[in-house]
Amino acid sequence: MLLTRFVTNIRPHKFVVTVVVFAFISCGAARDLRNVTEPKNPETCTILKATGGDDTKLIQEALDSCAKGKAVALSSETFYSGPLTIPSGVSLLVDQGVTLKAIPDPLLYDLGAKTCGTLDDFGVGCKAFITINGAKSSGIYGKGTIDGQANVTMTGKNKTWWELSNEAVTAHNYQNNPMLVQINDSVDITVYQVSLINSPFYTLTAYGTNGWTVWGITILAPPTARNTDGIDPIGCQNVTIAHCYVSMGDDNVAIKALTGPSRHISVLNNHFDEGRGVSIGSEVNHGISDVYVANVTLNGSVNGIHIKSNTYRGGHIRDITYDNLCVYRAQHPIYLEMDYVHLHGNRTPEFRRISINNMKALKKGEYIIYGLSASNPVEVTLNNVHVVKGSVFLERFANITGKFEVEDSTGNKCGYAGID
Ligand SMILES: *[C@@H]1O[C@H](CO)[C@@H](O)[C@H](O)[C@H]1NC(C)=O
Ligand SMILES: *[C@@H]1O[C@H](CO)[C@@H](O)[C@H](O)[C@H]1NC(C)=O
Ligand SMILES: *[C@@H]1O[C@H](CO)[C@@H](O)[C@H](O)[C@H]1NC(C)=O
Ligand SMILES: *[C@@H]1O[C@H](CO)[C@@H](O)[C@H](O)[C@H]1NC(C)=O
Ligand SMILES: *[C@@H]1O[C@H](CO)[C@@H](O)[C@H](O)[C@H]1NC(C)=O
Ligand SMILES: *[C@@H]1O[C@H](CO)[C@@H](O)[C@H](O)[C@H]1NC(C)=O
Ligand SMILES: *[C@@H]1O[C@H](CO)[C@@H](O)[C@H](O)[C@H]1NC(C)=O
Ligand SMILES: *[C@@H]1O[C@H](CO)[C@@H](O)[C@H](O)[C@H]1NC(C)=O
Repeated sequence: MLLTRFVTNIRPHKFVVTVVVFAFISCGAARDLRNVTEPKNPETCTILKATGGDDTKLIQEALDSCAKGKAVALSSETFYSGPLTIPSGVSLLVDQGVTLKAIPDPLLYDLGAKTCGTLDDFGVGCKAFITINGAKSSGIYGKGTIDGQANVTMTGKNKTWWELSNEAVTAHNYQNNPMLVQINDSVDITVYQVSLINSPFYTLTAYGTNGWTVWGITILAPPTARNTDGIDPIGCQNVTIAHCYVSMGDDNVAIKALTGPSRHISVLNNHFDEGRGVSIGSEVNHGISDVYVANVTLNGSVNGIHIKSNTYRGGHIRDITYDNLCVYRAQHPIYLEMDYVHLHGNRTPEFRRISINNMKALKKGEYIIYGLSASNPVEVTLNNVHVVKGSVFLERFANITGKFEVEDSTGNKCGYAGID
């Protein structure tokens, strides 16, 4: 049984004033510490034209022999390729009008156990389509498209990558599918303007990377495509995700701390359509702090703001600030939960100093704030958060400062400067 109660809590005005001052001070540090500006395409070392066949070797050799600081440009029509690795200091530039398609042959991505393209209990049998590992100052640029082809029948199989992902639901196990782009243990990585579509698994993921700029990119997959997460910083520091459009079948952004802490992350001026919202979690065991999410429109995602952990994951989540959020039609505009999927263990999650400022939700929704215990509540401040009358508020062990501004109608637009 859930120990929920409905709240319409109105608190004294002085709390709201305190909150404003606090939020202003805290967001100075709670973001990417670098001064990030719009990236510029690097100069090219080679310009490649597609042969129409398998161009893996052509592209990989060009990347391997490209001078540091420069980019291999793909400049004509459609390239087909197996997995590629972008070396340190080198970038890939996919020109406007060009598509780089991942050949849907599981054997090409297999990590050795011959499990890629099958179901098992682990789901870690494939390498990514594009890997950046232990690199410094590498990137992916250009207004072209990288297509994971997860909607196309796999070579030697009778199904697509996405159909395999759906089979894992009924089989109660995991699909072995490649991520589209995986960055590991790198420094100063840029992903600029490119469109990343139809990823077989997480679309754009970075582990243990310090200095990561994701600017002006588009991520697209149908809302039914399972586990296609948009942009996932995992154990990363100094990250900026700005001016991006993300619409797919899972978290639009998911900040995690599976391999190390994630800190100093800015999520600015983005438009998210289908998906599961701006998420923190659930793998947050190493802790997440200093996250600043501002000027974000969510139009179609299941959740707006979602912070999730449980006693199995643990993790301290602190100094998370949201400012200027427009949520069109989320089921859960705000969802802060310390008992995510009721998974239990012996770790203690903590959600402290979360502030939500200037948020408007245009449709009725369910607002859920579930802490762990009276001595370990979710600590959140609300300032100028407008919600529609008829919304449901479920609160359990929630330490809320400020209040929801419940209105008959919040209109059909947020009217915040800079966001639609
Ligand atoms: C984050 O950026 C700041 C400012 O450039 C820098 O001093 C700091 O070392 C960076 N942190 C990491 C972990 O790279
Ligand atoms: C960022 O810019 C501000 C203002 O110009 C400057 O004070 C600060 O030192 C810069 N930080 C870094 C890490 O370059
Ligand atoms: C896969 O998706 C692409 C674009 O998203 C589309 O052009 C193509 O027709 C689709 N292919 C199949 C087999 O559905
Ligand atoms: C492929 O799948 C279809 C329908 O899912 C089925 O009718 C067909 O027999 C299958 N073919 C093979 C070779 O397994
Ligand atoms: C990247 O890091 C993850 C997490 O530590 C690890 O599981 C994966 O094997 C690494 N991949 C490569 C190519 O190093
Ligand atoms: C929101 O999504 C709906 C349905 O896709 C669309 O009609 C509308 O134009 C979108 N509005 C904005 C501001 O993105
Ligand atoms: C709950 O909020 C009050 C202020 O309203 C604060 O004094 C107290 O320390 C908070 N408790 C916890 C456990 O965060
Ligand atoms: C949010 O948008 C406004 C209006 O375009 C802009 O002035 C402000 O700098 C943006 N905030 C951030 C943090 O980018």
